[in-house]
Amino acid sequence: MNSNRRVFLRNLTAVSALAATDSFAKPFNIIRDLKKISPNDKIRFATIGMGIQGHQDTKAALRSGGTEFVAAADLYDGRLQRVKEVYGNEVFTTRDYRNILERKDIDAVLVVTPDHWHDHITKASLAAGKHVYCEKPMVHHINEGLSVIEAWKKSGKTMQIGSQRISSASFREAKRLFQAGDIGDINYVESNNDRFNAIGAWNYSIPTDASVSTLDWDTFLGDAPKTAFDSKRFFRWRNYKDYGTGVAGDLFVHLITGVHFVTNTLGPERIFSSGQLSYWKDGRDVPDVMVSILEYPKTDIHSNFQMVLRVNFANAGAIANNTRIIGTEGQIEFTENNLLLTRKKLPKAPGYGGYDSYNTFSEKEQAEFKKQYDAQFPEDTRKAEPVKEVKFTAPKEDDAHMAHFKDFFDNIRKGSLGTVEDPVFGFRAAAPVLACNSSYFENKVIHWDPVKMKLKKG
Ligand SMILES: NC(=O)c1ccc[n+]([C@@H]2O[C@H](COP(=O)([O-])OP(=O)(O)OC[C@H]3O[C@@H](n4cnc5c(N)ncnc54)[C@H](O)[C@@H]3O)[C@@H](O)[C@H]2O)c1
Repeated sequence: MNSNRRVFLRNLTAVSALAATDSFAKPFNIIRDLKKISPNDKIRFATIGMGIQGHQDTKAALRSGGTEFVAAADLYDGRLQRVKEVYGNEVFTTRDYRNILERKDIDAVLVVTPDHWHDHITKASLAAGKHVYCEKPMVHHINEGLSVIEAWKKSGKTMQIGSQRISSASFREAKRLFQAGDIGDINYVESNNDRFNAIGAWNYSIPTDASVSTLDWDTFLGDAPKTAFDSKRFFRWRNYKDYGTGVAGDLFVHLITGVHFVTNTLGPERIFSSGQLSYWKDGRDVPDVMVSILEYPKTDIHSNFQMVLRVNFANAGAIANNTRIIGTEGQIEFTENNLLLTRKKLPKAPGYGGYDSYNTFSEKEQAEFKKQYDAQFPEDTRKAEPVKEVKFTAPKEDDAHMAHFKDFFDNIRKGSLGTVEDPVFGFRAAAPVLACNSSYFENKVIHWDPVKMKLKKG
């Protein structure tokens, strides 16, 4: 099949597959929230959770233009003070996010808390009529996903999940090349995010004044089991599965989101993980080395393929983090900053000789074999296309984080729900990586229905 036709069919079937089989189909640009914000009005937003990423998100949201940062909530007083120091005294600050939700002058909230609070604050914010930008992973547990999607649909508000890399120029280029059929039929993906340093392994600095009087420990616990105050749990929450989602929810989610964005796949069906705690034996209850295999079924829009995801927080060797999508005619290897497409097409003729059984045949048989081969494979079937390489480097000014927010705010202005990473897309990425955790902790293969977004019995 020629590649134009293949692309045409792929696009056609992509649309019809979504329309026909997907009850949670992406509402491409469906205008639901008719209360548009005039292009001249600034969108007034608040950030809930002003830790490390809270600042990164707030700054990216401001860089996207036409926005105003008016309020912040956080459970630790030092972080509320820091908001005033960085953004000005006029920013309203509170320990209680509900004080933000009740304000009618706030259009949108950024949910940048630890993972175990994502679903609660997102649902409360939508119910309060706010547009929501929620950090990845969208939910802490698989069983929380569909209720967030329902709340979003009911609200008619715009939502974006925060895996901002998919708004980079390099990821867009990977998608363009893949969708153009440049690597043939996909069969394998590998993607990794290794590190070897204490901060990279989530051992963030703990302030000297951390105590139950400077922060709200009981609220932090939320739906997690009650435990005595422990500043490590508060400031290094990723190390505990009561609040975080381990390397899978924290980092695999970026990797899988990229692959889902490029391929338009709905997700895997079988998921298996193996891992260990190798180096960071500091009381954490999540592994620091994890490898997962995710099996994607054949669909109308792609062939079946295997995906291997890896995080190694104790990689003292060479670290080369990237994603490689491999197909029958080439490979796309990419990061947020650059991409390399390698095209390689085999000739029709298989060849003979060299490390081959041909040399073991008698002279008479070799002559007969050659005669038949020449008749079967004329000259023009014997030449391989030369290996082609195409490089892409993202422009210096490319700002994926800003672009991800711009997409969110532009959709709010249009009264549209069609963000690049809406909750349906967000959950289809989050659920399989949360299933990677289930596989590791429960030592079993997890079966997932990527269309209905439900766990299946094995
Ligand atoms: N998209 C990305 O690249 C990226 C990068 C880093 C973190 N994240 C995500 O951002 C989120 C926050 O991560 P972080 O590194 O900033 O953590 P952090 O610990 O630095 O900050 C979290 C903040 O949330 C506050 N908080 C906790 N519960 C709260 C509640 N109920 N109400 C108000 N505030 C509350 C805490 O006081 C803390 O200051 C996580 O979901 C994480 O996965 C995303």
